[in-house]
Amino acid sequence: MSSIRSTYTDSVQFFGPTTPQALVEEFGTPLYVYSEKILRQRCRELVSMCSTQGFTVNYSVKANTNPALLSIIREEGLTVDAMSPGELHMDLLAGFTEENIFYISNNISPAEMKNAIARKLLVSVDSLSQLDLYGRLNPGGRVMVRFNPGIGAGHSKKVVTAGKETKFGVCPEDIAEVQKLLDTHNLTLAGATQHIGSLFMQPDGYVAAADFLLDFVKSMPAALQEHLEVIDFGGGFGIPYHKYDHEARLDLAELGAKLDALFAAFIAETGYQGRFLVEPGRYVVAESAVLLGSVEAVKNNGPRRYVGTDLGFNVLVRPAMYDSFHDVEIYGKGTAADRQELVQTLVGNICESGDIMAKERTWPEITEDDIVGVLDAGAYGFSMSSNYNTRPLSAEVLIPLEGSPRLIRRRQTLDDMTATLI
Ligand code: LLP
Repeated sequence: MSSIRSTYTDSVQFFGPTTPQALVEEFGTPLYVYSEKILRQRCRELVSMCSTQGFTVNYSVKANTNPALLSIIREEGLTVDAMSPGELHMDLLAGFTEENIFYISNNISPAEMKNAIARKLLVSVDSLSQLDLYGRLNPGGRVMVRFNPGIGAGHSKKVVTAGKETKFGVCPEDIAEVQKLLDTHNLTLAGATQHIGSLFMQPDGYVAAADFLLDFVKSMPAALQEHLEVIDFGGGFGIPYHKYDHEARLDLAELGAKLDALFAAFIAETGYQGRFLVEPGRYVVAESAVLLGSVEAVKNNGPRRYVGTDLGFNVLVRPAMYDSFHDVEIYGKGTAADRQELVQTLVGNICESGDIMAKERTWPEITEDDIVGVLDAGAYGFSMSSNYNTRPLSAEVLIPLEGSPRLIRRRQTLDDMTATLI
């Protein structure tokens, strides 16, 4: 079988020695397929973007927590965050040690906070009330505080995580309150963190927010600056989702150079010797996966042509949730030249009309025996999938640098889904 629309995956040799058809035959669909080569490439680009001593790439695991991928990310020298006991469990399974895990919390319970403290993790708290809780649970400890720089950014309102209209961070104006709570509980401020939002393609907003955080740190009372060992600027690094329109990549060299310049000036002025963290999630993993699905039915509804697949929003929710764009490839018999170009809408098998993966795109005609591949599905794909309509979670496969594709998560079974019933 040849491919009808596969220029992108062909150009990066995504499937290596195997083919989408062979993978589907062996593992079924829906299937998340990861490329170790691309994952390592993205990690290396990030690690080498800045040359300042103390520069650290802290992978935000909410994008994808499969331990097989986390182990590769660990080998590439990244640290990781965790924001729940589940994420922490996955980090530990992948071999990360406590000093390489940062607990970046938001509204967590005392039990969860205790768990992070017992593990001796550096915790970032997100409000005065959680700073107080931290102090009561761990008097004399080291803690980080997440600040809200007032500048937000993101690809959708739902992923803007700074500014007054969001729930995140402590207002810089409340620094006196922060100091009071630190004093009350004899705490050391070990870090200042922020995250302004997700998916920027131009460096400037991120650099401006980084500049803001560094200026803010310089304006803190000396006693607070003194023990800082981590300054974390958050994630948000975008990837080009419009692969077939040749969308430009984020210029990491430019971003890195601008950050290096800020760091150098900050070090010169303050003598800071700690770490500078960036915290990308999407950039690390998004492009390392293609989500494969089966075409089960095609139909015309008046002027509209629908292609019905097993890729519902239970499998990949981003298009339904944020109107996100993912490019789609088509693998099937013949060649594109044999097929008519048609406007088609790719939908899933969930009983909701919002169950749309890709709306009104012009592609070669898709037929029932085809396999479709949704590109850039590695970030917030499996990690946001669900059992909606009581469908099992997908399987995940890794194409290693050498050797045969390896199942890194088997497909969930009906018994797995009923295991918690009593
Ligand atoms: N650090 C913190 C504190 C975060 O909350 C996030 C993401 C990141 C880092 C990583 O952001 P990234 O580099 O991946 O943009 N589900 C949405 C994205 C939500 C991001 C939430 N926080 C999506 O599918 O687009």
